[in-house]
Amino acid sequence: MRKKVIAGNWKMNKSPAEVEAFMKEFPKLVENTKNEVILCVPFVDVALALELAKDTNIKIGVQNMHFKDSGAYTGEVSPKMLEDIGVDYVIIGHSERREYFNETDDSVNQKLKAAFSHHLNPILCVGETLEQRENGITKEWIVDQVKKALADITAEQVEKLIIAYEPIWAIGTGKTATAEEANEAIHWIREEIGSLYGEEVAQKIILQYGGSVKSSNANELFSMPDIDGGLVGGASLEAVEFSKIVNYDK
Ligand code: PGA
Repeated sequence: MRKKVIAGNWKMNKSPAEVEAFMKEFPKLVENTKNEVILCVPFVDVALALELAKDTNIKIGVQNMHFKDSGAYTGEVSPKMLEDIGVDYVIIGHSERREYFNETDDSVNQKLKAAFSHHLNPILCVGETLEQRENGITKEWIVDQVKKALADITAEQVEKLIIAYEPIWAIGTGKTATAEEANEAIHWIREEIGSLYGEEVAQKIILQYGGSVKSSNANELFSMPDIDGGLVGGASLEAVEFSKIVNYDK
């Protein structure tokens, strides 16, 4: 049985004072879950979030990184820095980074390799636009994104990878994929992992759904056979609401 993994993606939200307020409330609301809980926070909040999450079941992640260890890359944060400070997870290839910050399949692949070599667990994001869905090329598109992201990544590494299927038309729009649509796309990804790495790896890998997940739809989505949890944006910003998503099975 795969565990459920529920990650919050705070995006460009919350200054340290707000992190402090959130962490006064949130840990006790999720302390009894058997699901894995992750908060992917802005870089300026990492040190504080790690400190406040100590002695809790909450893991801390970030939302991006460079693929090089160090160098003249003004404004960037390296995988080595994240490893040294004790970060567990890193989101790679979120659609907002692909759309607004020139993230490509190639940079996503390089970042995945760098994450693995620094003991960071990547959460790789893939997903189609509304136009691609309407043109009937969703499967082709997401399978291609997965293949390109995983070039030269080993089976051993893929077992530690999380892939979040996030249809772009469902992100921040209040429009959620139906549980069936989400499960279908995630099943395609699992099949692709199976053909690239074998059935055992395909059955182990954690595949999440993301895009307007909230407490009112989490149970339906996360109860689907191929959906192993979610990547949650807007609804992860508020402690009580996010705790209800984490505790969707209670
Ligand atoms: P949303 O964002 O839950 O606000 O739709 C999800 C994401 O972009 O990871």
